[in-house]
Amino acid sequence: MKLNYREDSHLYGWSGSFGRNSIFTITIFSLGLSFYFQDHALGTDFADISATDHIGYMLRVTARIAFFLLLLAMIARPFRQLTGMGFELLRHRRYLGLAMSFVSTVHFFYVVAYLQISGEPLKMTTIIFGGFAFLLTWILAATSNDSSQRMLGVWWRRIHVFSSYYIWLIFMVTFFGTLRENSEPLYAGIVSTGLVAVSLRIAVHHSQRFKRTA
Ligand code: HEM
Repeated sequence: MKLNYREDSHLYGWSGSFGRNSIFTITIFSLGLSFYFQDHALGTDFADISATDHIGYMLRVTARIAFFLLLLAMIARPFRQLTGMGFELLRHRRYLGLAMSFVSTVHFFYVVAYLQISGEPLKMTTIIFGGFAFLLTWILAATSNDSSQRMLGVWWRRIHVFSSYYIWLIFMVTFFGTLRENSEPLYAGIVSTGLVAVSLRIAVHHSQRFKRTA
């Protein structure tokens, strides 16, 4: 299915801003709920939660929410092309990406707090690969607007595709590392979901290219 420009772009007007506001509201609400219920999640009274436990918990929460938003943004187009459904998802992809950047930035601030409190030295590989992922996240956010899209031309898509895959990879490596350590079904589920989402994206992309050249 060939998408026209209006389908792929975000629309303005009441319904466009309602979708955008809903995405940002739900994102902030999810962060707030996770914060509010951290005593249940950690199995302790609120007053007994140490700064280290709080930071570790919020690092996990922000990573999971950001990954979920990234996957939604990454499958929006292939899902639409494959099923003909998901018009609203595709239309609001930009805001999913922006919400992902916002939550990643919260992760970044918790990383800074974690480093200060734990006094743990950072490995050079973490600084380079993790730091580059944060940088790309912010580049994505800064260029997620029409004027940057027009100005960067073909480079806009290249930057966005490369950045999404790179950030996805850092998430997957981290989740997979935890899965190897603890073999928890939750991590198996997260890693499998990440793999399915990207396989779907690659498969649909190749089938579209095949159709165009056939
Ligand atoms: C310098 C950069 C970073 C540092 C020092 C860092 C540090 C941390 C720490 C301390 C945790 C908590 C581990 C735990 O208590 O279980 C964590 C979790 C996590 N971080 Fe980061 N982080 C960095 C950047 C990133 C980036 C750029 C991404 C993704 C693009 C990312 C994805 C994750 C994931 C997936 C988890 C695991 C969440 C879970 O266990 O459910 N981190 N990070």
